[in-house]
Amino acid sequence: MNLIVLIIGDITMKNKKIDVFKNSKIKVPFFYPSISKDDQLAVKNALNSPLLTDGPLLKKFESNFAKFTGAKYAIGVSNATSALHLSLKSLGISSGDEVIIPDMTFVATASSILFTGATPVVADIDNDLNISIESIEKNITKKTKAILPVHFAGKICNINKIKKIAKKNNLKLIEDCAHAIGTREGKKHVGTFGNAGCFSFYPTKNFTTIEGGMIITNSKDIAKYVLTARNHGLTRSLSNRFSSGKPWDYDVIEPGYNYRLDEIRSSLGLSQLNRINNINKLRIKIANKYNKLLKNIKGISLPVIKSNRNHIFHLYSIKIEKEYNLTRDELFKKLYDKNIGTSVQYYPLHLMSYNKNKYNNLDFPVANKIKNQILCLPIFPTMTQKQIQYVASNLVN
Ligand SMILES: Cc1ncc(COP(=O)(O)O)c(C=O)c1O
Repeated sequence: MNLIVLIIGDITMKNKKIDVFKNSKIKVPFFYPSISKDDQLAVKNALNSPLLTDGPLLKKFESNFAKFTGAKYAIGVSNATSALHLSLKSLGISSGDEVIIPDMTFVATASSILFTGATPVVADIDNDLNISIESIEKNITKKTKAILPVHFAGKICNINKIKKIAKKNNLKLIEDCAHAIGTREGKKHVGTFGNAGCFSFYPTKNFTTIEGGMIITNSKDIAKYVLTARNHGLTRSLSNRFSSGKPWDYDVIEPGYNYRLDEIRSSLGLSQLNRINNINKLRIKIANKYNKLLKNIKGISLPVIKSNRNHIFHLYSIKIEKEYNLTRDELFKKLYDKNIGTSVQYYPLHLMSYNKNKYNNLDFPVANKIKNQILCLPIFPTMTQKQIQYVASNLVN
């Protein structure tokens, strides 16, 4: 069986190296992609299409994703990093500007800002692992041009409050929704609160196109910029040029990128999008089961869920407190030995070597505390009751 265990490379435990990719006896992988027969058929059919990129499947995927999120425009791109990069560029973010992001995120949230010449400014997080409102406010300067929160693990951040702060300070708001396909507050999907929302369809995400991403927006100007910039800055797309009978007929107004999403990936996205509500329901069910089984274990804190906030459990992240009989790293090792894949998402950005001497460590009390406590447990739609029980039973002291 083709099992994938995704954990942070190799980890050293008391001088003994653990190679997490070499555990062939794995009983519960950290994640397992959900590829159905329909998905396989969709990809097979797409391989026979005359236009392998920039064709009707991409258009349909975009239109269905726009319907799913309630956004006016959805534009497919090569991944969430390019989605973030183009969103920032579309809003004129450039050298000399600052963009506020959370400490607890994947590096792409920050690097997409660096691509524009602007500076990411890292804010501390709250106990629920989402960006801290207080820290956002502390970090606003004359140079701040945008706030870029992440809906961490699939749980909506305090987006209405962030929107108010953005409005008050005349800042743009871009949402990193890489973890949050299907996360809503009431009927409003994440990514529609600010100027643009950026999604990832990487294999670990709630649905996948293998590599792939999407930008959603209600702004015609942003959509227009992104459509051109994702395709080398050409004024006309491949299908548009060929159907006009003049394939060479295009102009370039400003340089762009090759950030396209092809037909094969779009076919997989379309097929998976049909199942996303069910996929998310299964994840929530697994999370509820974990909650039930783990709630009385001394020293384990369960994910913080605020009643009015939606959570689609891209990650199920627990905290290992002092009262637990093992440290987080010891627990990781114990679970590894029991053939259970786990992960730490993420090590705080302000502590990465690239950021050495850029930040005052004292400005990150929450991230600094949590970084040695968090552990993400396996969660994927086809996880069995037996697997959930097995993980939970190995967490009991
Ligand atoms: C929060 C966050 N933002 C951005 C990205 C980048 O996504 P992609 O790999 O699709 O570029 C990721 C990927 O893991 C992510 O977790």
